Amino acid sequence: MGLIVPVLLAAWAVLSTGQTDECSPTPSATEGPFFQSQGVPDKADWICRPDFAPEGAPEGGAEFTMTGTIFDEDCATPLGGGDYNVTLMVWQADSEGNYDDNRDTSTHYCRGLITVGEDGTYSVRTILPGQYQNGPTLRPRHMHAMVTAAGYENLITQVYWEGDEFLGDCCNSDDPRLWMPVNDELTQGQFNFTLTRAPDFVASMAASEQVCSSSACYTVVNRSASWADALSACSESGMQLVEISSEDEGAFVAEELLGGTGWRDVGGSLWMGLNNGAEGAEGGDWVWQSGAELGYEGWGEGEPGDAGTCGALLVNENGTSWLAADCAASLDGFVCVAQAS
Ligand SMILES: *[C@@H]1O[C@H](CO)[C@@H](O)[C@H](O)[C@H]1NC(C)=O
Ligand SMILES: *[C@@H]1O[C@H](CO)[C@@H](O)[C@H](O)[C@H]1NC(C)=O
Ligand SMILES: *[C@@H]1O[C@H](CO)[C@@H](O)[C@H](O)[C@H]1NC(C)=O
Ligand SMILES: *[C@@H]1O[C@H](CO)[C@@H](O)[C@H](O)[C@H]1NC(C)=O
Repeated sequence: MGLIVPVLLAAWAVLSTGQTDECSPTPSATEGPFFQSQGVPDKADWICRPDFAPEGAPEGGAEFTMTGTIFDEDCATPLGGGDYNVTLMVWQADSEGNYDDNRDTSTHYCRGLITVGEDGTYSVRTILPGQYQNGPTLRPRHMHAMVTAAGYENLITQVYWEGDEFLGDCCNSDDPRLWMPVNDELTQGQFNFTLTRAPDFVASMAASEQVCSSSACYTVVNRSASWADALSACSESGMQLVEISSEDEGAFVAEELLGGTGWRDVGGSLWMGLNNGAEGAEGGDWVWQSGAELGYEGWGEGEPGDAGTCGALLVNENGTSWLAADCAASLDGFVCVAQAS
């Protein structure tokens, strides 16, 4: 590392000319067909090496180093360290424009998870990706990236080499905010990722009305959320994701809570604290988040289907019924409950 730093510092003086002062989140761009969500290895150093190629791939390519910082939406606060749990995954074509998937997925060639420092900085050592045929023209050189951080929206995007003659073809490549300034030799580039803060569920909850029965108080949060988001938002507010343990409670929720707050008029689906512990796998038993077994059940017709592993309330003019939904889906909101004191 000690050898690299002075070289990079000198280069940044040249690279920093092309940028604008405007602050805006990094735009997203399609993940494309070569995205892999599972099993991508950490690559602290090279994601593909100029002097090495797996079987079937061309011999390496020209060395390229991409560096930058992950920023909060203020474009000033770097995101790094354990609190933010920042992850950066990158994937790109080899020098001939092929992805590892075109050859052998298991090699994870030109793809990896990159270490993000405490100060939000990262460095990707790689080779210059090839430009490849895409319809009548070539796709410009690009690096795919996914950036995640606790409390921020996931970003999936594509970073382009500024000055590439094929910019503008697809996938937001005409957006200068996705252009990475590169040096003349095409050996170094710098790109900062700016994330958008996730919606503040806790603040929306504080603004939502509470409706109490004799034994519990409920809040319906009108904010699109995954099941995990809903679960943590309720608990951060000292409540829990709703569990409906009797027909009476189901009726109270359907009439007083969802009728009274207008949800029956609008309709929608709202997470409950129910799941079958089988994320993507064969269904287990449905249990409440507190560990309680299912007593009363209010499944709708055909439910629980095979697809979903998290439970939700489907609300319409006629009342509520339960449905099994994909835990990662963004439903319309969720219901939190606290025992009445
Ligand atoms: C960090 O983020 C990754 C990717 O989103 C996730 O799989 C992991 O569970 C997170 N770790 C912690 C400690 O939150
Ligand atoms: C990225 O952020 C660093 C640190 O603020 C800054 O010096 C650099 O000019 C930025 N680079 C680009 C390409 O915007
Ligand atoms: C939820 O919020 C949306 C606007 O974000 C609004 O259109 C809708 O009517 C709200 N739903 C209820 C039940 O208040
Ligand atoms: C509510 O019930 C009525 C009568 O059974 C039915 O016609 C209507 O389609 C139902 N509404 C919804 C949204 O399912």
